[in-house]
Formats: sequence, C-alpha cells, structure tokens
Amino acid sequence: MSYSLPDLPYAYNALEPYIDEQTMRLHHDKHHNAYLTKFNEAIAGKEFERAPLAELLGKIDTLPEAVRGVVRNHGGGYANHCLFWEIMGPGAGGEPSGKLADAINSTFGGFAAFQEQFSNAAGTRFGSGWAWLVVKNGGSLAVYSTANQDSPLMSGDTPILGLDVWEHAYYLKYQNRRPEYVSAWWNVVNWDAVAEKFAQAK
Ligand SMILES: [Fe+2]
Repeated sequence: MSYSLPDLPYAYNALEPYIDEQTMRLHHDKHHNAYLTKFNEAIAGKEFERAPLAELLGKIDTLPEAVRGVVRNHGGGYANHCLFWEIMGPGAGGEPSGKLADAINSTFGGFAAFQEQFSNAAGTRFGSGWAWLVVKNGGSLAVYSTANQDSPLMSGDTPILGLDVWEHAYYLKYQNRRPEYVSAWWNVVNWDAVAEKFAQAK
C-alpha cells in the first residue's frame, strides 16, 4: 500500500488574506509531497506496510530502528498536514458550537481562555513544530505543542485541531512574525470540521 497526496478541499488562494496562495502552493505541493514521498519509500516492501498510519505512529517505539526515524518524521509530517488542510477553510473562523464548545468551555474555562492557551503553545514552541488540541484516552481535551513532525498519535492522543508553526507555513507572508500568523490563522479554522473529528474521537 502506498499513501497519496490529498487535494486541498479548497482553492490555493481560498485562505487569503490570512494565508497566501504562494505559501499554500509550496506547502501542499512541495513540503507535504516530500513527506509523503519519503514515507512511501521507507515503508515500501516492509511487513507493516499495510498497517494504518495512525497505528504505526501509535507504536513508533516498536518499529525497527532503521525505519523508526523516517516514519516518525515523514509519516508524522504526512499525517499532520492531511489534518491541517482539513481543519481550515474559507469563510471560517469564529467559535465552535454544540458539544465541542461545551467541552472547550468546561476544560479551559471558555473559548477565549482556550484560544490564549493554544496560541501560547504555538508561540512558545522553540524552532519547528505544531500546536494541538487533542482528545485524550477517556475523552478529555488537552492543548500542547510537539517538536518537528511529532504527532499526538505517538502519545495515544487524537489530534482534532493542529497549527503548523514551521517557518515554511508562514515565512513568505509573515517573515519572523509568528504571533501575527497565529492570530490571523484563527480566521480560517473550520470549526465544523474540528467538531466532526471531536465526535469521531469520543
Ligand atoms: Fe508544514
């Protein structure tokens, strides 16, 4: 089995002015594609090649040492970006509603407090990485960041919202101003998609 690059569920320029078209083209067509290609090369012909990626990441420590790093970095990168495209969209932003809103309110003490905690996780991640909202075993929510392309799936958590804070995600438009990128990004969060992932994860 080999994995493939999912099309963006919207046009490359659909997230303007918050995320520019050129960044989206490079990010999807080049960066995401590079993770995919290296991941496929690494698992080709291996005995675990047919295992779902979430399962491989969940048992990363048991994989043969020769492929562990590639699966972690490139399999993680492939999975993280698949989620990233899905949880953004044009005409999005605002706040979640329904059960997801209830869970965020009861966990973090309100949407604004959640947003602050998440933005802080994104802003303080040193170097490259991701900020996450995850569903933990048992169904509770948590916010944290990971380094590089490490996936929450490696810790047994289910990511339902992720923000890429690698420079490739924002440097063309925002240069070194990561906080500006993070605050603009809230305008493209597709809360319906996040709520769907939340419902599936419970
Ligand atoms: Fe990225």
